[in-house]
Amino acid sequence: MSRIEILGLTQQFKGHRAVDEVDLVIEDGDFVVLLGPSGCGKTTLLRMIAGLLEPTAGRIVIDGQDVTDLPSKKRNLAMVFQSYALYPHLSVAKNLAFPLAVLRMPKEERDTRVRDVAATLGLDKLLQRKPRELSGGQRQRVAVGRALVRQPSAYLMDEPLSNLDAKLRTATRQELSELHARLAATFVYVTHDQVEAMTMATKIVVLDAGRIEQAGTPEEIYHRPASVFVAGFVGAPPMNLVPAVAGSAAGVVTASASGMDARLWQGEVDERDVVIGVRPEHLRVADSATGALRVHGVVERIENLGSEQVLYLRAGDALLTARGDGLGGYRRGDAIVLGAALERIHLFDPETGRRLEWVSDSDELPAIEASVPIPA
Ligand SMILES: Nc1ncnc2c1ncn2[C@@H]1O[C@H](COP(=O)(O)OP(=O)(O)O)[C@@H](O)[C@H]1O
Ligand SMILES: [Mg+2]
Repeated sequence: MSRIEILGLTQQFKGHRAVDEVDLVIEDGDFVVLLGPSGCGKTTLLRMIAGLLEPTAGRIVIDGQDVTDLPSKKRNLAMVFQSYALYPHLSVAKNLAFPLAVLRMPKEERDTRVRDVAATLGLDKLLQRKPRELSGGQRQRVAVGRALVRQPSAYLMDEPLSNLDAKLRTATRQELSELHARLAATFVYVTHDQVEAMTMATKIVVLDAGRIEQAGTPEEIYHRPASVFVAGFVGAPPMNLVPAVAGSAAGVVTASASGMDARLWQGEVDERDVVIGVRPEHLRVADSATGALRVHGVVERIENLGSEQVLYLRAGDALLTARGDGLGGYRRGDAIVLGAALERIHLFDPETGRRLEWVSDSDELPAIEASVPIPA
């Protein structure tokens, strides 16, 4: 059981700030996924939490205790790495017992813990095997088991699935989710894979260049991305992001770009630059006058994925993607109209990259304003 508070945590390498004043609260029992592109500081942040790397500045508080100056082994956290780092000459049972032997736990207690963990992870029948006699997925389970035997208060995992093939990754994602539910423990999990984040996290923390871009539930991250960066990073194919001009006409706020028009909300705004965002799966072939957004364009390419198709539409300077079933009948060169509903349209500030929110507050002159960030 662990609640982890991170306050102004910073890691300054020579001339390079890998983690930049990160504030974050990880609640007891959370499955927090630190998500971001390679080099954004995920591993560095995790290593500081684990006590493997001394922060340049900031504090780490676990269950009310400031552990910033405590060595790793006194933090009662377990870390699972990308490489399994099992001892090749030891059996599964001995690999599992190893962390307990280091703690000088009596043999009987050790054996009980190893048996329990082996049962939990379905390793009972493999206890006498050597790592080389296991599949990749089984080895990964032993690595997780080695964290489990210590009964730590939180689990820190750094891209533990990246060495597995696609099919095994899917199965192991499910196993980890179930394990989290069963242990009701705190998980902090690092990945660059948005599918892992979306499927397992109770809370996703999106990092870019050492800073938190957004922290929220998978639903918040997907449906209310706080910035162009988050909008473009989460979702595949990524959200369409098109520079446009917002203004108002006859009491309705509009946004337009070449080939693209959106009628958004009632109100007046001063003309300003915006970025319109719409996810490929929310662009539909417009069959009537409904839909707040309309895009007139020419089909450039169709990719057939079997269950659905991805359609590339040239509209003015923009190349948009639409995704769905039933786009397969179109051909290169077809002129079509795509539409999206009002609630599917996102607006961003091109200067700051931050999300713009419509504020229809009272008798104040309506304006598009930067939204309040989603609380961490
Ligand atoms: N020991 C180190 N010394 C100097 N720079 C480092 C060190 N470790 C990591 N970095 C740099 O810090 C940045 C963040 O690295 P890392 O935390 O490993 O990113 P991620 O895990 O998100 O891929 C990268 O630019 C990396 O090159
Ligand atoms: Mg890393």
